[in-house]
Amino acid sequence: MQIIQTVSELRKTLKSQASIGFVPTMGNLHAGHICLVELAKQHAQCVVVSIFVNPLQFGPNEDLANYPRTLEADCEKLKAAGCDIVFTPSVAEIYPAFDGKTLGQTMTIQPPPIANVLCGATRLSHFAGVATVVMKLFNIVFYNTVQPNVAVFGKKDFQQLFIIKEMVKQFNLPIEIIAGETVRETSNLALSSRNSYLTDVQRTSANQLNSALQSIVNQVKNGNKDFVQLEQQAATQLSKQGWEVDYISIRSSTTLQPASQRDKDLIVLGAAKIINKTSGKTRLIDNIELCITD
Ligand code: PAF
Repeated sequence: MQIIQTVSELRKTLKSQASIGFVPTMGNLHAGHICLVELAKQHAQCVVVSIFVNPLQFGPNEDLANYPRTLEADCEKLKAAGCDIVFTPSVAEIYPAFDGKTLGQTMTIQPPPIANVLCGATRLSHFAGVATVVMKLFNIVFYNTVQPNVAVFGKKDFQQLFIIKEMVKQFNLPIEIIAGETVRETSNLALSSRNSYLTDVQRTSANQLNSALQSIVNQVKNGNKDFVQLEQQAATQLSKQGWEVDYISIRSSTTLQPASQRDKDLIVLGAAKIINKTSGKTRLIDNIELCITD
């Protein structure tokens, strides 16, 4: 496995590669990321994983400085998973106008309006930052390649996956986006790099978010289509359990618009902060897809 730090060396190395499977990450890799790598391997001869904590997608009060950086352990996991190339660029490599303080990225991808709801309602320019860095990474990785090109994203960040698919479509990018299933602990807690912020006590109740979403899924499957009431009920339940709820939302999984009575393919999404008096808040997200057949 090669570890490459610069754009020019990566482009040289990937010149005329037969097919590339790309998995963009911010590192602190867990079994969920490794499943994405394995999925990429099924679709391409050469698997490239990027590890880059992208400053542009973090808000001013978010966890950029504390975001877990575990490069050595990440590389060991990737080697064991059969990854061919790890791309670990510096901030200056991805943001050429970076002056040591300011990124200097005055041009960005403006994501579609769906980026302003759900996670985007509180993380204001988050998806513009994600779309911009992903566009840059696509331009770097797929610069000189012979198609087919695939890129793999996890379904845990369903809104991100949706926006990236839209970007690929609207910008005519010759890249197939493949979605990887969410990997969970036995408690059903979705794996996330941010789970490393959880204390032992928080970890024991962190699956309550998933349970709240699952309860909605069960009720919808049993014929309850009062979506607003179901959302409110789940949010109230989580608040009583000590969570600060960001959103609980039942949507169409094909359009990501609020679910209508006619929609068959649904997704129940949630984001909430688990609160601990001594260790502060950790924001978790999760979602469950469901198909109504009647
Ligand atoms: O999902 C992530 O880890 C990040 O948002 C991504 C896609 C690597 C862009 O920085």
